[in-house]
Amino acid sequence: MKKITIAIDGFSSTGKSTVAKQLAKHLGYVYVDTGAMYRAVAFYAMQNGLIDKENFNVEELISQLPNIEITFKFNEALGFAEVYLNDENIEKDIRTLEVSAFVSTVASVSEVRKKLVEQQQKLGKNKAVVMDGRDIGTVVFPNAELKIFMTASAETRAERRYNELVDKGDQVTFEAVLKNVQERDHLDTTREDSPLVMAEDAIEFDNSNLSRDEQFEKLLALVEAKL
Ligand code: DC
Repeated sequence: MKKITIAIDGFSSTGKSTVAKQLAKHLGYVYVDTGAMYRAVAFYAMQNGLIDKENFNVEELISQLPNIEITFKFNEALGFAEVYLNDENIEKDIRTLEVSAFVSTVASVSEVRKKLVEQQQKLGKNKAVVMDGRDIGTVVFPNAELKIFMTASAETRAERRYNELVDKGDQVTFEAVLKNVQERDHLDTTREDSPLVMAEDAIEFDNSNLSRDEQFEKLLALVEAKL
């Protein structure tokens, strides 16, 4: 069967990764979570004292980029690939509100983007890939056969992220999560390099009022139309 590239972009916490994983599993495609790659670099910067609330040593982060190796390893039990930083599994460490607070700043650095975009293009060079992020349909794979742009209101997205964090046992308030979602929307859409914008040929998909199953069925129909 024909193999295609599926690019899923959109605002944070729109459920991109949930549906991207479902589609990849159903189609037997590779799933690449590019947000996890930016989170891994932010986590590295935090661990190495390069970023905190007051300071961001961007020059030092750029000079240390060659020391940062991000890989994905498929976890059979979970059914998806987990992210590793220099061979250490950091899947859980990068999903915290603390990393979320710094990731958009780190993701605005052009040198960081260049390194990660190159790796993403390599990961998807054979097609049969579902990649989610902010610039997949515009920068990473401008020729992707199917481009989806996911949206939902900031409140709906914050509620989903809040429930996820609370289920994991994190101590967070809804207000803090909503503030983070709104701040990241602002940073992601206004940065100079590869801001979050909908590609001209993308299909806008608002999932505020859809269940996971409904969303999957609708997107699968769009994929099947392309195949
Ligand atoms: O999808 P996510 O929330 O895990 O992404 C984390 C951050 O990474 C997000 O706030 C913006 C950035 N990002 C990016 O700039 N480009 C991508 N392709 C993916 C994520």
